[in-house]
Amino acid sequence: MANKIHKAVFPAAGLGTRFLPATKASPKEMLPLVDKPLIQYSVEEAVASGVDSVLIITGRDKSAIENHFDISFELEHLLKQKGKTEMFEQVRAISEIAKVSYTRQKEALGLGHAILQARDFVGNEPFAALLADDIVDSEVPALRQMIDIYEKYDAPVIATMQVEGEAISRFGVIDADEVEPGVYKIKDMVEKPAFADAPSDLAIIGRYIFTPDIFEAIDATEPGAGGEIQITDAMRILMRERPFYAVKLDGVRHDAGDKLGFLIATVEYALKRGDLGREFREYLRTLQLD
Ligand code: G1P
Repeated sequence: MANKIHKAVFPAAGLGTRFLPATKASPKEMLPLVDKPLIQYSVEEAVASGVDSVLIITGRDKSAIENHFDISFELEHLLKQKGKTEMFEQVRAISEIAKVSYTRQKEALGLGHAILQARDFVGNEPFAALLADDIVDSEVPALRQMIDIYEKYDAPVIATMQVEGEAISRFGVIDADEVEPGVYKIKDMVEKPAFADAPSDLAIIGRYIFTPDIFEAIDATEPGAGGEIQITDAMRILMRERPFYAVKLDGVRHDAGDKLGFLIATVEYALKRGDLGREFREYLRTLQLD
């Protein structure tokens, strides 16, 4: 029987260079989709998937993330005093969402190196890793879809989706055999290949379920694409010893760390909101878009 996944790791130490100047002094993970920071969406996804213990891997200038998941006494006091009960509860709930801990990645040496910082937190358990700028809009939480497959095959699982054309070279890409609809056994993977060298159109999305042996694999990983310690390369090492699976997510993935992807996600999420959607749709209809 596969061990239960109840820990999740959120690498959040990146400099957010794709979103400058907004990310010069503010973490990209705190960019809001409508009114909720990106990192809160993915922490909520993890909690809805069964996670109760969270480690956020931060870096310099990321204290806004810690403040967000902490209790804000002044704000809570003010909201209570003004009788804004619903707002008070909303704010309080964020600080109670899960057991949240933090550690720092002192140097930006890559995603593999970021995940390595979770070694003590994880101990000898399987765990999830989620990249907050990949937002997955789905009925069943994306991580839950993956945990179901992890429990079935008792093996590490990554998320995948089809990407058409040259855009594939912005991702890790897998070479895999479909073993049941939407589930793949991975044969090989490569980080950000040239379009001509991509082994398939199946891109890796920022959701992973790892077993603790990933840390030894990261230890053995040399710097790869962009001179960074890539998690894709570490998985490649570990794949020699154990099977790895991929799940095609049922849902829509937005790259909210990219300016265009962020705008698209904002419009989609705003249109779905009960309190804003109708008026926003009416406004969009008035735009002369041709
Ligand atoms: C990371 C991973 C890559 C994956 C991508 C998904 O890249 O290294 O394999 O396809 O996330 O968003 P990044 O976008 O951080 O460069």
